[in-house]
Amino acid sequence: MAQSAKIPEGAAVPGRLHEKAAFITGAASGIGEASARAMVREGAAVALADINESGVLALAEELSMRGARALAMVLDVSDPVAVQTNYEIAVAELGRLDVLHLNAAAGRPDDSNVVDTPLEAWEDAFRLNVMSVVTGLKYGIPHLLAGGGGNIVVTSSGGGEAGDHSRIAYGSLKASVTALTRYVAVTHGRAGININAVLPGLVLSPGAATQFPAPLSAAVAKHQTTDRLTQPEDIAELVVFLASDDAKAIRGQGIRIDAGVSIQGGASPTLAQAIADLQAGVAEGA
Ligand SMILES: NC(=O)c1ccc[n+]([C@@H]2O[C@H](COP(=O)([O-])OP(=O)(O)OC[C@H]3O[C@@H](n4cnc5c(N)ncnc54)[C@H](O)[C@@H]3O)[C@@H](O)[C@H]2O)c1
Repeated sequence: MAQSAKIPEGAAVPGRLHEKAAFITGAASGIGEASARAMVREGAAVALADINESGVLALAEELSMRGARALAMVLDVSDPVAVQTNYEIAVAELGRLDVLHLNAAAGRPDDSNVVDTPLEAWEDAFRLNVMSVVTGLKYGIPHLLAGGGGNIVVTSSGGGEAGDHSRIAYGSLKASVTALTRYVAVTHGRAGININAVLPGLVLSPGAATQFPAPLSAAVAKHQTTDRLTQPEDIAELVVFLASDDAKAIRGQGIRIDAGVSIQGGASPTLAQAIADLQAGVAEGA
């Protein structure tokens, strides 16, 4: 029987991303910021990429003050040349790249239904949500392979797995991001790339909080199997796991992380209330 490696008593346990370098997009806020913090905790050096200059500068400064190797990169992920250049800068500064978290995306308020959504909103959504991941992979994978391989986590969305009342461009294009993940897992798995996607439900990030004020998030919570609303840090823990060698047997998956919303039928809370009302009626009648 194989012996498990023993760590001497009192010795520090190396983090799960010890000596790894990670490139995180959308790192100034929400899920990307939480992911960056969790990766630093696990020992990674981080390149923090975001279009929000003051946000990434502040985060890089804070993490550096606490002893981390953290680079701020001002980047619009929908600009392929800038993506390519920023990878080169990150490798020059950090010496290597082992992990990509391709996370940046955004929606538009005029993304509603197929009749009303302007065609240019689709083009925008395609550039920002799909082509940003395509270029992140196209120009990032060679850097990972140069170091012998690595892990990639893509932030997709549960919104790509079902129909909804609005945000048709965002949702249907996130489905494409999840599919892209599977293709890359097949084409590059044996070369040493392990790629997976996280598919969050509602996460109370600064970005989502503006779109989901309390009455709306309370309505979502009714469809969860817990009252607790998901926080960016919850997603970050899954991202760190998928970015680490611990995830070596998980490949090309789209992992739902939505507080139980997707495992229930659509009528679940309504049905639960109807059953409770019926039982109360029977009890009263008895
Ligand atoms: N919050 C949710 O409920 C939820 C649910 C499902 C999926 N997601 C996905 O999670 C990811 C992160 O979202 P979040 O909720 O943390 O949002 P957020 O708005 O809090 O953070 C997004 C970050 O991306 C950056 N960004 C936006 N456009 C960019 C661009 N062109 N180039 C570089 N950076 C850019 C923003 O400046 C911001 O810092 C997105 O891919 C989003 O689609 C979020």
